[in-house]
Amino acid sequence: MALINTTDMFKKAYAGGYAVGAFNVNNMEIIQGICEAAQETKSPLILQVSAGARKYARHAYLVKLVEAAMEDCGLDLALHLDHGDDFAICKACIDGGFSSVMIDGSKHSFEENISLTKQVVDYAHQFGVTVEGELGRLAGVEDDVNVSAEDSSYTDPAQVEEFVSRTGVDSLAIAIGTSHGAYKFKPGTKPQLRFDILAEVERRLPGFPIVLHGASSVMQEYVAKVNQFGGAMPDAIGVPEDMLRKAAGMAVCKINIDSDLRLAMTAAIREHLAEHPDHFDPRQYLTPARAAIKEVVAHKMREVLGCAGQA
Ligand code: G3H
Ligand code: 13P
Ligand code: ZN
Repeated sequence: MALINTTDMFKKAYAGGYAVGAFNVNNMEIIQGICEAAQETKSPLILQVSAGARKYARHAYLVKLVEAAMEDCGLDLALHLDHGDDFAICKACIDGGFSSVMIDGSKHSFEENISLTKQVVDYAHQFGVTVEGELGRLAGVEDDVNVSAEDSSYTDPAQVEEFVSRTGVDSLAIAIGTSHGAYKFKPGTKPQLRFDILAEVERRLPGFPIVLHGASSVMQEYVAKVNQFGGAMPDAIGVPEDMLRKAAGMAVCKINIDSDLRLAMTAAIREHLAEHPDHFDPRQYLTPARAAIKEVVAHKMREVLGCAGQA
C-alpha cells in the first residue's frame, strides 16, 4: 500500500461526476474510523492534516498512524496538508512524507498569492507532490483558520485562468458561500451557494479539479444528540447535502469535511458517558466515537460524494 498524490484521483472524479472526500484527522480513532469507512465502501480517500492537528498530535505520530491504517485496511490514499499558510510548513510536510499540500495564500494580494503558490509548486513537483491553491476567502472559525464574514470574499472567476497558469497548481479551492465550522448560515435563512461562480470557473478551466472547503452539512441528528446529552450548541446550519451532490457533479473533485466528524464524535462520547456515568476507561467511550466517525464518513461517501465503489 502506498501514499499517492491526487492527480489520478481527480482525473477519475472529474470524468465520473463525483468528488473525493478529504477528511481532517487528529488522532488514531479518527484515522481508523475514516479508513474503515473507505475500506467498506471501496472509496478513494484523502486524509488531511491542519497546522492545528500537526501541533496537537505531532507530525511523526500522524504519518505513522496513517501508514498503519493503510496497511491495516489495504488502502492507497493521499496524505494532504490542509491550509498550509507559508512555504516552511509546506516544505516540512513535503520533506516529511506527505503526498499533497495546500498552500492557502488567499489572505494575500493576488500577486503575492501567485508568487507564494508558485514557490510551493516548484518545490513540491520535484518530489511528485500535488499542490492545492486557493483564490477567494471563506469565512469561519477553526483553531488556526479564522476569517470574519467582513474579510471573506467570493472567488472572482476572471482571475482563475491567470492564477492556474502562472502558478502551475494541480487543484484550486474557491469560495462560493461555504464557510468553516458549525455555524455557516443564519438560523431561519435558506442556505445559498453561488453555483453561477462555480459554473463560470468550470467554463474557464475545463477539466480542472476544483476544491470545496467548509462543506460539512452540520448534521442535525448529531447537534440534537450533543444537546440532548448535556451540550449547549446554538442552532447550527451547514451546507445541504443536495448542494454538495450538485457540486460533485460539476467541477468539484475534492470536498473537505471536518466539523461533521467532530460533531459525530462528540455526540457519541456525550451519549456514552451520560448512559454510563461510572465509565472512566477511555476505550469505553472512544469505541462508540470511532464507530460514529465510520458511520458518518460512510454516509458521506455513499450518499453525498458519490465516490463509493470508485477506489
Ligand atoms: O479548515 C480547517 C480545518 O477544519 C481544520 O481545523 O485548524 O481547527 O484543525 P483546525
Ligand atoms: P468544515 O468546517 O465545514 O468541516 O470544513 C472543513 C474544511 O474546509 C477543512 O479544510
Ligand atoms: Zn478548509
